[in-house]
Amino acid sequence: MQVFQEINPLKAFLHQKKREGKRVGFVPTMGALHQGHISLINASTEHNDITVCSIYVNPTQFNNPADLKKYPRTLAADKAMLQDAGCQVLFLPDNAVMYPVETKLQLNFGRLEKTMEGKHRPGHFNGVGLVVSKLLHIVEPDVAYFGQKDLQQYLIIRQMVQELFFPTALVCCPIVREPDGLAMSSRNVRLSKAARKKATILYQCLSEAKTLFIEGRASVAQIKKYVGQKLTNQTDLMLEYFEIVDAHNLLPITKTYKTDQVAFCIAAEVGGIRLIDNLFLNEAIHI
Ligand code: PAF
Repeated sequence: MQVFQEINPLKAFLHQKKREGKRVGFVPTMGALHQGHISLINASTEHNDITVCSIYVNPTQFNNPADLKKYPRTLAADKAMLQDAGCQVLFLPDNAVMYPVETKLQLNFGRLEKTMEGKHRPGHFNGVGLVVSKLLHIVEPDVAYFGQKDLQQYLIIRQMVQELFFPTALVCCPIVREPDGLAMSSRNVRLSKAARKKATILYQCLSEAKTLFIEGRASVAQIKKYVGQKLTNQTDLMLEYFEIVDAHNLLPITKTYKTDQVAFCIAAEVGGIRLIDNLFLNEAIHI
């Protein structure tokens, strides 16, 4: 695996590969890799000649400086995992490379960022949009891979790529779960033993909400109330939101009706660690 820390040598390398007719897949990450990331690398290596992964903990997307400081950094293990997965290129920029001048640009994703993560993490998607557009300009991939766990992030990036004519196709890959249902996340390693056990309740809630929705006996309001009540009075757990939305545009779903489009989305702090998860009514939909 070739490692690049600077933009120009990486670009020169990739331009040469492009001239040779190679197709480039890209997986942007913030490191602390787990099998969820590796599923993205696998999707890329399967469909492309060259897979590029970036590891960069992007400061502009953290609205909480303590969260940025505590974000897990496991570079040696990450490199070994990428190597084993057949990733050919690792881009490892630092802040001076990614933000050589103070960014004044402000991205506004309109309605899409006014809900869920956008509402609870002001400025977060501005930072995501900035860094992803920089990375897409640097790597110029044919395809970029993102995880469904960050559903809202994916939709926002999709909007940006469409509106700004980025010549990159996007693929959203399914969530990878631990055997007990917990969605894989870089933050999971920070959970205490007790919090790790408790965290499975998020997936339980999503699954129960989905069953209730399919059965059609409870209204959307009742399902939301049920999940809210189940998660209140839990020690060391603070629910931020539970939403039932259209998976394509995050508009709230107000009625239980037969549609493929529904996504159940949740965010909560468990033992002080913020976790998010979501579940599609129909796992087979493509977004
Ligand atoms: O999903 C992530 O890991 C990050 O938000 C991303 C897309 C790499 C941008 O920093």
